[in-house]
Amino acid sequence: IFDTLVKGLQRLEYRGYDSAGVGVDGPRKNDNGDNVNICLIKKRGKVKALDEELYKNDSIDLDIELDTHFGIAHTRWATHGEPNAVNCHPHRSDKNNEFVVIHNGIITNYKELRKYLKSKGYKFESETDTEVIPKLIKYVYDNSENDYVSFSTLVERVIQQLVSVMEGRGSPLLIGVRSKYELSMEQIPIQYNSTGESLFSLWVPLETRPAVGRQLLMAPTETFSPGVFNAIIEHTNKVIYLRDDDIAAVAQGKLSLHRMSRCAGEDPNRAIQTLQMELQQIMKGNFKAFMQKEIFEQPESVFNTMRGRICFETNTVVLGGLKDHLKEIRRCRRLILIGCGTSFHAGVATRQILEELTELPVMVELASDFLDRITPVFRDDVCFFISQSGETADTLMTLRYCQGRGALTVGITNTVGSSISRETDCGVHINAGPEIGVASTKAYTSQFVALTMFGLMMSEDRISLQKRRLEIINGLRMLPGLIKEVLTLDDQIKTIASELYQQRSLLVMGRGYNYATCMEGALKIKEITYMHSEGILAGELKHGPLALIDKHMPVIMIIMKDACYTKCHNALQQVTARQGRPIILCCQDDPEITKNAYKTIELPQTVDCLQGVLSVIPLQLMSFHLAVLRGYDVDCPRNLAKSVTVE
Ligand code: F6R
Repeated sequence: IFDTLVKGLQRLEYRGYDSAGVGVDGPRKNDNGDNVNICLIKKRGKVKALDEELYKNDSIDLDIELDTHFGIAHTRWATHGEPNAVNCHPHRSDKNNEFVVIHNGIITNYKELRKYLKSKGYKFESETDTEVIPKLIKYVYDNSENDYVSFSTLVERVIQQLVSVMEGRGSPLLIGVRSKYELSMEQIPIQYNSTGESLFSLWVPLETRPAVGRQLLMAPTETFSPGVFNAIIEHTNKVIYLRDDDIAAVAQGKLSLHRMSRCAGEDPNRAIQTLQMELQQIMKGNFKAFMQKEIFEQPESVFNTMRGRICFETNTVVLGGLKDHLKEIRRCRRLILIGCGTSFHAGVATRQILEELTELPVMVELASDFLDRITPVFRDDVCFFISQSGETADTLMTLRYCQGRGALTVGITNTVGSSISRETDCGVHINAGPEIGVASTKAYTSQFVALTMFGLMMSEDRISLQKRRLEIINGLRMLPGLIKEVLTLDDQIKTIASELYQQRSLLVMGRGYNYATCMEGALKIKEITYMHSEGILAGELKHGPLALIDKHMPVIMIIMKDACYTKCHNALQQVTARQGRPIILCCQDDPEITKNAYKTIELPQTVDCLQGVLSVIPLQLMSFHLAVLRGYDVDCPRNLAKSVTVE
């Protein structure tokens, strides 16, 4: 069981990793020497530290390994209380470990609850918000009028007292089901309880494997992001998706699902579904890091975004998830592209081509800022929610805000079944495959391509745009091959990185179609190398950033052969006139640039609006090499998590 739990945690570790803990049902002595039924082991640091603790700690009775058949585990990304073993989950109700809890999300009324429970004599061990849950469970349990309180009643009573960000966010649990029998809904007898409505039991015939324990695996997390699948896929590809307000209980091989009483009358049935995912998709292979693997996957991931959607014979693009809404979208007042971080940059990268192809006003917005401004949204707006994980809290909240104002909502996500893909009116899956490195790479280029395809689909009937469309469709056809070519520059980029890695700062400058690349490149650099980096719009240079330039400040400039070429060239003159030594990303065969550059990285040329897909790759590679040379763990940058499910 420890093995199963620890491996599961390791696969989820990239989502948050400052401490980890497990709780398993096995007899153990507590601090007072009394026997308790649940054993808790918690450790600050990575899952590896917990793993070592589990095996070195001779206070763990090895018999537990055989007796144990149920466990919970958690990796923590601190929000309340510093990362240490005490603050780490599972949290417990009392020294006897009567109730233990793991939880993701934030309990906003935890201070009030804590004060109340303290006044009732409960002693708190940690600084976390989560600890109020087991204490509250114990309190509710001890104070129930009846001798017997069912698990679901208990959970329900406790949840009623919690004001939780998770509650309003749509963050269900995923249950993996393993059986030696072929599973289908027909084979599973569903039993309704005596009242016939809010409960159904699902009896799954279980294979007996005591060393591994129960064959029902609950992903110890709250979202549907690939991470969750990662923890389960090596055990089973059969899963049940829970919904908001479902309560799941497992006892003696029997899983029962209940609806909260406020949902009485709603259909409680949940089908067992098959995950379309292979274990090898989440393995690193020969690469040093998932990020590196994902950078090199881009010829295929970009191809997969287009697969079956572009017909190169007829020059048509069909995004199945949008086609029924196309008329409505064409009639809209404006398009609003909303996302965070890299996903926001994908909106910046495609705004210009969307303005050109749709002939509509296009706004690009950071989700958090959009909500802070209480931005006016109208019924005839179309709002796009761009999110790799489909679970980012800021983006999800903004989606609900826009939906509340009657706008049509469109999801651009990489995660089938994610909250954003489920809650939007329609959408496009970018099909980039699981992205595990915390720094987003292949999702960005696929978001870029998916949004461009949307523009092409919108402009199909515009005679005046046919030539342009044709040029872009041809560009898309060639794109995977050109990405491969860019990836061959890896060694050259590594050499440049070896000159730069000890610098404190790195500026990335460009304009027009490549401005998004500057912002995205700078984000990659800061998040994994911890160097200061800024993406600067070259048009703004003389309004401030030029003051930063001297012979010591490393600058990367992006100068491609597009409408901004001459203006970029002017910026280059301004930089070299201040003894700046620019490393220039430029098109192949551009002697004019080469002679003014300290170094060049020469890229194949494509259509102007797609050039950003190619120009971002050297910066992804650069950030990777810089981080490795600086000795950092590329896939686990400090303080960051893959899905940011808190606001
Ligand atoms: C940067 C990065 C983040 C995410 C952002 C949004 O490399 O990964 O900036 O892009 O947290 O995440 P998603 O796209 O999952 O909504």
